[in-house]
Amino acid sequence: MSLLSVEALNVSFRTGRGLVKANEGIFLEIKEGEVLALIGETGCGKTTFGKALLRLLSKNVMIKGRILFRGRDLLALSRNEMRQLRGKEIGIVLQNPSLALNPVLSIGDQLAEVYRSHEGCGKKEAEKKAGEMLGLVGIDPSRKAEYPHQFSGGMLQRVMVALGLALRPALLIADEPTRGLDLQTKQQIADLISGLVKQEASALLLITHDLEVAEQIADRAAVMYAGEIVETGKAREIFSNPGHPYTRALLEALPENGLRAVPGQGPSFVNPPSGCRFHPRCAFGTESCQKIRPRLLELEGERQVRCLLFESTGKPEEIPDDAAKS
Ligand SMILES: Nc1ncnc2c1ncn2[C@@H]1O[C@H](COP(=O)(O)OP(=O)(O)OP(=O)(O)O)[C@@H](O)[C@H]1O
Ligand SMILES: [Mg+2]
Repeated sequence: MSLLSVEALNVSFRTGRGLVKANEGIFLEIKEGEVLALIGETGCGKTTFGKALLRLLSKNVMIKGRILFRGRDLLALSRNEMRQLRGKEIGIVLQNPSLALNPVLSIGDQLAEVYRSHEGCGKKEAEKKAGEMLGLVGIDPSRKAEYPHQFSGGMLQRVMVALGLALRPALLIADEPTRGLDLQTKQQIADLISGLVKQEASALLLITHDLEVAEQIADRAAVMYAGEIVETGKAREIFSNPGHPYTRALLEALPENGLRAVPGQGPSFVNPPSGCRFHPRCAFGTESCQKIRPRLLELEGERQVRCLLFESTGKPEEIPDDAAKS
């Protein structure tokens, strides 16, 4: 069953450079209990999407479309209703823990505050719950009186996960929870998040450009390029058999595939390329790709691909592998 259904979402920012179209025409669904990875290069619009779901974007934003959560359009809620929903029904682990946490409040107090303000718990009870939550994310509750600067990067991420899951939301949005961590810590945080969301039966929107983590814990994946979703499908299938030329290029950056960066420059968000936004960097592009904006095509096996090459064949296999190398 669909927990979250995003329909025709457009998010743009008014800036001195013009209108930055950070998300365009997004249709995306998250089912109850599933892990959806949103992947794509830096700056493609992933955080914008995650924050738009909770209406956490800056004042210069314009949002259009519908964000249906359990049938309610979040864009139509009052600010007060939205405040009540945040954390309780949809939790978020923000991209930068050192910015998200209050430096002058102890970890335990920050967590306890969530229970006091949302659940109306008294001091004692809130502290007890905060201690339990710290234990759940693998932090010794005896450290609750410590401040954020006393924690390592990995421990701070654990705190962020504790805050995100504190009220047992049905959906957790985790924005780059493994960024900047060493390999071993990254693995621990990935295991922690996937274990906890399963245990709590929460759905997870994992926003990451770490493809290895995405491959490891996601049920489905959505690939974003220049503010558009260019491919969605079962994670295993996308990683083993990427369809969109951009997904292919992205996967070539994995260590086992030789760490080749996607060739060419990232696109402008103020004046995005005509036709297919990926065409200037695409190894398969034709003249039509410069003119026609591809739609998100439904393929077999719950796969969607936004690429003209699939309009005629309808099958990912039909893009010749050699073409990518020429
Ligand atoms: N508040 C804002 N005002 C103006 N432009 C913004 C704002 N927030 C984001 N943008 C622009 O929107 C685009 C998408 O940014 P976003 O942070 O969503 O990307 P991202 O995929 O999360 O990147 P990263 O992987 O680096 O975290 C970028 O071009 C960015 O400069
Ligand atoms: Mg981001």
